[in-house]
Amino acid sequence: MKVGIVGSGQVGRALGTGFATLGHDVKIGTREPGNDKLAEWVMTSGGRASVGTVAEAAAFGDIGVIATAWAGTENALRLAGPQNLAGKVVIDVTNPLAFEPSAPPRLTVGFTDSAGEAVQRWLPGARVVKAFNIITNSQMFRPTFKDGPATMFICGDDDAAKQTVLGICHDFGWQSTIDVGGLEAARLLEPLAVLWCVYGVRSGTWDHAFRLIRG
Ligand SMILES: NC(=O)c1ccc[n+]([C@@H]2O[C@H](COP(=O)([O-])OP(=O)(O)OC[C@H]3O[C@@H](n4cnc5c(N)ncnc54)[C@H](OP(=O)(O)O)[C@@H]3O)[C@@H](O)[C@H]2O)c1
Repeated sequence: MKVGIVGSGQVGRALGTGFATLGHDVKIGTREPGNDKLAEWVMTSGGRASVGTVAEAAAFGDIGVIATAWAGTENALRLAGPQNLAGKVVIDVTNPLAFEPSAPPRLTVGFTDSAGEAVQRWLPGARVVKAFNIITNSQMFRPTFKDGPATMFICGDDDAAKQTVLGICHDFGWQSTIDVGGLEAARLLEPLAVLWCVYGVRSGTWDHAFRLIRG
């Protein structure tokens, strides 16, 4: 599979390394493809990683990943070119968070909209699935938790796209995955990222995750 990743930060690199480790070809798109900030990521990704413009990465992938800072996401998707992602499964990892000193992060879109739905509006032809937004980047691929496996929650409006993403989660090492419904459920998954941050600040730990248990 070819994977085009929009976003060159820790998430784009962590997911990119995961896909490359599993034998997929990966291109990260950045506004600065000439900059050497991704040189080490390319070198350590076993020959399957490359860097290009945002549009080149979007066109390259059989599937897409959106891992941009929320404030830059609309611009990044404009640069990607919605036509380059039309018809493709697109994994949206963004969280619409605003950070202010001495306060928990705030959801910039409130509770009656979500980043997932906004990404779908900006990419009307794409098959957007929300995933990986409730976990820190270092635990996205082959997660290990001393308290046992965590749960990856996903949502999206296209059932076949969700099956593809559930398969990717499984390949990435997520034994417990739950499809929580249509993309509107991103309104539930994105606040979980706020809870994740609040617990991190209060506990001083940054490798926690959520698990759904059944009685
Ligand atoms: N960090 C985590 O562990 C984590 C976990 C779960 C979810 N998330 C979410 O995943 C997303 C990515 O997080 P991150 O920490 O990897 O990334 P980040 O450092 O916040 O940003 C990632 C990339 O966004 C692009 N970007 C920023 N402003 C832009 C603009 N105006 N136009 C176009 N592109 C722009 C930049 O790409 P270029 O400068 O290279 O063009 C940047 O490298 C965020 O929405 C975050 O909330 C993060």
